[in-house]
Amino acid sequence: MEIIRTVAELKAKLNAARENGSIGLVPTMGALHAGHLSLIERARRENDTVVVSVFVNPTQFNNPNDLATYPRTEEADTAMLCEAGVDYAFIPSVEEIYPEPDTRQFALGSVAEVMEGAMRPGHFNGVAQIVSKLFDFTRPTRAYFGEKDFQQIAVIRKMVELEGFDLEIVDCPIKREADGLAMSSRNVRLTPEQRAIAPAIHKALEGSLSWAADHSVEETKRYVIDEINSFPQMEVEYYEIVDALTMQPVSDWAETDSAVGCVTVFCGDVRLIDNIKYPKR
Ligand code: PAJ
Repeated sequence: MEIIRTVAELKAKLNAARENGSIGLVPTMGALHAGHLSLIERARRENDTVVVSVFVNPTQFNNPNDLATYPRTEEADTAMLCEAGVDYAFIPSVEEIYPEPDTRQFALGSVAEVMEGAMRPGHFNGVAQIVSKLFDFTRPTRAYFGEKDFQQIAVIRKMVELEGFDLEIVDCPIKREADGLAMSSRNVRLTPEQRAIAPAIHKALEGSLSWAADHSVEETKRYVIDEINSFPQMEVEYYEIVDALTMQPVSDWAETDSAVGCVTVFCGDVRLIDNIKYPKR
C-alpha cells in the first residue's frame, strides 16, 4: 500500500490505474473500525484499484468541540488499510485540500433540509464540498458509503446529480457491535457506563418494528423516543420516520414504499446516530 499526501501525486497514480480497470473509492475521516472495513472489503471485491481517503474534513463540523475531539489514529488506520489490501491511502493535510477557503454552496434542496440538515447547519454543504473534491481528484468508477449515515447518501446522490459526476454510488449496510450498537468512531468517547446502555438505541428501533405493525407513524415515533429517553443518561435529539429516497417525513405508513426511521441521541455529550428500515406495508 502507498500512502499519498498530495493531490498531484494521487491524480498521477490514478491516471495510470484507470488504464488498467476500475477504481473504488471509500471516503473516511479515519479512526477506522469494522464498519469502515466492511465498505473497504466490498470495494476490494468489486474494483481493480482501491483508494481510501482519511481526512477529518473541517468544513462539515458545525461544532468546533466535535472537530477538536474527533479521534485521530493515523498509525492504526494505515495498518488496518494495509491489512485490508488497499492500494492507496490518501491522507492529505487541510492545506492540501483547502489551499483557499471553499466558498461553494451546493443547491442540495429538500434532502438536506431535514434531520441532520436542520440540526447541523452547513454540515451537508461541507460534506458535499469534500466529497465533490475527492470525486474530482480520484474520478472513481464506484464510491462506497455506509447506511449508518442514511441521509448523507441521499445528499451525496443529489450532489452527484448537480455536478454531473459519472460514477456509481454503492450503499452498504450498517455494521454493528455484537450487542447491536452501530459501530462509530465516536463510540470510543463513551464512558463504560454510557457504552453499556448505548445498545438500547438499536433495541428500541428493533422493538419498534413489531410495534409499527399496529400503530401509527406518530405512535411509533413516540414509542422509540420514550424507550430511549427512559434511560436518564440518554436524550433523543430527534426521531423522524422518512421516505428512504426523498428524506421527507411521512405522517402515514401508506405515504411511502420504503420508510426509514432515523434517530440521533445524546449520550452525555457524545452524539450517536442510527436508523432502521420498516418493511413495506
Ligand atoms: P466517517 O464517519 O469516517 O464514515 C466513513 C464512511 O463509513 C461513511 O460512508 C459511513 O457511513 C461509513 N460507516 C461508518 N460507520 C459505519 C457502520 N457502523 N456501518 C457501515 N458503514 C459505516 O461519513 C464520513 O466519515 C464523512 O462524512 C465523509 C463521507 C468521509 C466525508 O467527510
